[in-house]
Amino acid sequence: MNMAEPIRVLVTGAAGQIAYSLLFSIAKGDVFGRDQPISLLLLDIAPMLPVLEGVVMELQDCALPLLREVIPTDKEEVAFKDLDAAILVGSMPRREGMERKDLLKANVAIFKCQGAALDKYAKKNVKVLVVGNPANTNCLIAAMSAPSIPKENFSCLTRLDHNRARAQVAMRCGVPATHVKNVIIWGNHSSTQYPDVHHCKVNKGGSDLACFDAVKDDEWLKGEFISTVQLRGAAVIKARKLSSAMSAAKAICDHMRDIWSGTLEGEYISMGVFSSGNPYGIPENLVYSFPVQIKDKSWKIVDGLAINDFSRQKMDATASELIEERDTAVDFLSA
Ligand code: NAD
Ligand code: LMR
Repeated sequence: MNMAEPIRVLVTGAAGQIAYSLLFSIAKGDVFGRDQPISLLLLDIAPMLPVLEGVVMELQDCALPLLREVIPTDKEEVAFKDLDAAILVGSMPRREGMERKDLLKANVAIFKCQGAALDKYAKKNVKVLVVGNPANTNCLIAAMSAPSIPKENFSCLTRLDHNRARAQVAMRCGVPATHVKNVIIWGNHSSTQYPDVHHCKVNKGGSDLACFDAVKDDEWLKGEFISTVQLRGAAVIKARKLSSAMSAAKAICDHMRDIWSGTLEGEYISMGVFSSGNPYGIPENLVYSFPVQIKDKSWKIVDGLAINDFSRQKMDATASELIEERDTAVDFLSA
């Protein structure tokens, strides 16, 4: 059988904890397909190169059939060259007591530089996933710094929140997470995000029920459910003294696999994308999480979902936070 040419996939922060949970899944074909050979570019900062060497050795020792090449580097011109996909993880994680936007000052400059490096070295059809926090605003800055790459090629990770919402509903209903579909995360990957189940369906006893009918506890769905999902990242940090890594890596795989191969018929997923021209009246020029469907590597915001007053207020509140974050980021970068 003739194998396809290898694609070039970059993971930044490759010596860090998310990357350690992520690289094996990518290298074995879970994300880009079981017949797609891969060249892995691994970027980290110079002091982490000795650690990165260990990661490279382990990847080699997995003896994986699809992994053609592993290139560890601290140089942008090597890491970003001719990329097909870029997963931008490398940045500082928050610690207990911080909000993700407290990381702006430390992290936003990284995404400005890496946006410029994408612009200079990557293929123009590269798909870029921003994970490093605050993910939406970092994604916006990276895209703005890469004017020659279409803005639609950039997205940020809110799939972890989406998966968290799905799992909470599934546990409440006593069904597997795969029986819960079409939850929506609106807005920022922060504690103002709005996990919305008004359009969610739960397969219970063989039939699809509206989430409110399946759960039968409106107070929980409008209260504790929302705050649990909003604050889940902080809860993991409090317990582990480190931010989520295994679940973040799983969400990255889900997100990139859907970009590469499309979403399932009749289902939508959440991801942060450019708000320009969105059908829900969210202000322009933000990277905002919407329900999307993906086909032929292009996403489309799901149109026509009814929005009640409860949802509207929460969707607007998270948009306001993103406007503030964007303005702060621009101030930091121009200081
Ligand atoms: P980590 O500290 O374990 O690893 C980060 C790695 O990035 C380190 O090896 C560090 O040296 C490297 N790095 C720093 N600056 C870099 C640069 N300029 N270029 C390349 N590499 C660089 O952190 P982690 O737990 O892997 O988390 C990474 C980021 O992902 C954090 O910002 C965290 O908050 C974020 N995160 C986002 C989500 C999400 O859902 N969007 C989920 C989990 C974590
Ligand atoms: C998460 O949601 O787990 C990550 O964004 C890490 C964090 O800072 O909460």
